[in-house]
Amino acid sequence: MSDGPGVTVREMRPDELLFVETIHASAFDGIDEAQLTKAVIESGHETISVVAAHDGFLIGHALFSSLDGPERALALGPVAVAPDRQGAGIGARLIGFGLELARERGWRSVFVLGDPHYYGRFGFRPDLAQGADVPWAGPAFQALELIPGALTGWHGPLVYPEPFSALPE
Ligand SMILES: CC(C)(COP(=O)(O)OP(=O)(O)OC[C@H]1O[C@@H](n2cnc3c(N)ncnc32)[C@H](O)[C@@H]1OP(=O)(O)O)[C@@H](O)C(=O)NCCC(=O)NCCS
Repeated sequence: MSDGPGVTVREMRPDELLFVETIHASAFDGIDEAQLTKAVIESGHETISVVAAHDGFLIGHALFSSLDGPERALALGPVAVAPDRQGAGIGARLIGFGLELARERGWRSVFVLGDPHYYGRFGFRPDLAQGADVPWAGPAFQALELIPGALTGWHGPLVYPEPFSALPE
């Protein structure tokens, strides 16, 4: 299935946050991810926040936020696509566009917790995340190097923006 000719991906505007929260609340079971997204964006952390739009309506969102750990590292997530638009490549376009912006802006690596089958297609790999000291270490915790070798030899704590600690385990 194609995402259709009318879908555009671009950076979120500040006045679109409420619509973005609604996308997360509809895509996930509950409002934790909507609240997390709002809290991270409003906390002033450096973020890359990208939306997919169709006919003037927002239908998807992906958040990248700065981490304390290796130099210039981002966390990807949450990512959400409106339920009736899922499986049409919109998530892939959001993530691809966000990664492109991250590379342009000098970010060096990106970490994500999610399905390796899905995130593997973008180049995320569990072995690249192994140096990170986090409670959720395991095969679903992956990283991608925007600069080859960015994570080579790195070991240490990886600290997420404070609102992530409010998420249930
Ligand atoms: C995960 C999500 C963002 C993907 O966006 P999308 O536009 O549906 O994805 P795409 O069309 O780019 O890719 C479709 C692929 O994703 C897979 N997929 C869909 N939802 C998935 C999920 N929750 N976890 C893992 N894979 C998923 C599909 O099986 C499909 O795989 P295939 O290409 O091998 O057939 C979207 O489905 C969504 O919002 N899901 C609910 C919220 C969520 O679970 N977010 C991810 C955790 S942060």
